[in-house]
Amino acid sequence: MAYKVISLFSFNLLLLFLLPLYSHATSRNPHDKKLSSVEYLKRLQGSREGDKVKGIHNLKAYLEKFGYLSYNHSKNQTHTNDDDSDELLVSAIKTYQLNHHLNATGIMDANTVSTMMKPRCLVADITNGTNWMSSRKKKHHHRHGSFHTHFPFSDGNRKWTTSDLTYGFLPSTPAEAMNPIANAFKTWASNSHFTFSQAQDYTNANIKVSFERGDHGDGSPFDGPNSPGVDNTVAHAFRPTDGRLHFDADNQWSVGAVPGAMDYETVALHEIGHLLGLGHSSVQGSVMWPAIDTGATAHSLQKDDIDRIKALYNS
Ligand SMILES: *[C@@H]1O[C@H](CO)[C@@H](O)[C@H](O)[C@H]1NC(C)=O
Ligand SMILES: *[C@@H]1O[C@H](CO)[C@@H](O)[C@H](O)[C@H]1NC(C)=O
Ligand SMILES: *[C@@H]1O[C@H](CO)[C@@H](O)[C@H](O)[C@H]1NC(C)=O
Ligand SMILES: *[C@@H]1O[C@H](CO)[C@@H](O)[C@H](O)[C@H]1NC(C)=O
Ligand SMILES: [Zn+2]
Ligand SMILES: [Zn+2]
Repeated sequence: MAYKVISLFSFNLLLLFLLPLYSHATSRNPHDKKLSSVEYLKRLQGSREGDKVKGIHNLKAYLEKFGYLSYNHSKNQTHTNDDDSDELLVSAIKTYQLNHHLNATGIMDANTVSTMMKPRCLVADITNGTNWMSSRKKKHHHRHGSFHTHFPFSDGNRKWTTSDLTYGFLPSTPAEAMNPIANAFKTWASNSHFTFSQAQDYTNANIKVSFERGDHGDGSPFDGPNSPGVDNTVAHAFRPTDGRLHFDADNQWSVGAVPGAMDYETVALHEIGHLLGLGHSSVQGSVMWPAIDTGATAHSLQKDDIDRIKALYNS
C-alpha cells in the first residue's frame, strides 16, 4: 500500500516536471506561432460586401501587402483601418480570386480562406499596377502560323546585363542551408543562360543570401513570433540588379520534406526566379506560383518558369 502511494506520488511528480517542458517546447515552435497569425481569416469565412466582421482590417492589410488593395493612407480614406467590407475590398478579393483560380465572387468562401492561410512568398503579386499573375499566357497568331507567348514585363522589365553571377552567404547563414541553396542555383543554371558561382566574399557578391527575422530594415518585415502580422510569409527576394535574398529565420526549415517545415531548396528555387527578374505566375504547380507548401519539395523548374526566363532575356 505504502509502495503504491509512493509510486503514484513519484509518477505525479514526474508529470509535474514533464508537462511544463512539453508545453514550453510546443509554444516555442515558431511554426505554430506563424500559423496562428493567420487565424483571423477563419473568422472571415462567409463574409461579403457590407459585412462588418472583426479581422477585416487584417484582411485589408494582407491584400495591401500583396498589391491587391491600395488605400491612400495620407488621405485618411474612410475604410482604411476599419472592419467594414467596402467596395474597394470586395474588388481586391475578386482580383485575388481570379489570380488564384478561385470563384471570383468577392465573398470569402472556404477555398479563398484556405488559400490565403497557406505559407507564401513575401513578394507582392501586383507591383506598380502590373498584375504579374493576370496575363495568363496570351497566344498571338503570327503570320507564319506560329504562336508567341506574352508575359507581363511592363513594370520596369529589369534584367541583369551579365550572365555570370556570383552569390554569397551572410556569415550567420545556417550551414545546412548552403548546399540546398547551391543546388537551386544549379537548377536555374541548367535551364537558362546564367552561370552562378559562390563568392568567398559576401560583400562583393551579386546575390547576397541571408536569414532575417521580423522587421529587418528593408521595408518588408517578416511575420516573426514577436510580430504576429497578417500573413504567413517565408522568404522574399528583390528584382535585378538588387540581389538580396532573405529567408525568414523564424520559420521552421528543413533539408528535404519534413512535415510542418519548409524545404530550403524549394524556397530558394522560387526566390532565385525573383532575383533574375520574374514575378509570380498564375500557373498552379509552377515554381513561380506564390504559395509554397510545407512538408513538400519542388526541385525542378516547370515549362512555364523556363518559358518566362527565356522570354524575359530573349534567350
Ligand atoms: C494621396 O492623397 C494625398 C492628399 O490628397 C495626395 O497628395 C497624394 O498624391 C495621394 N497619393 C496617391 C498615391 O494617390
Ligand atoms: C481619420 O478619420 C477618422 C474618422 O473620420 C478620424 O477620427 C481620425 O482622427 C482621422 N485621422 C487623421 C490622421 O486625420
Ligand atoms: C466554385 O463554385 C462552384 C459552384 O458553387 C463549386 O462547385 C466549386 O467547387 C467552386 N470552386 C472553387 C475553386 O471554389
Ligand atoms: C514602382 O515604381 C517606382 C517609380 O518608378 C519605383 O521607384 C519603385 O521601386 C517601384 N516599385 C516596385 C515594387 O517595383
Ligand atoms: Zn515569390
Ligand atoms: Zn528582406
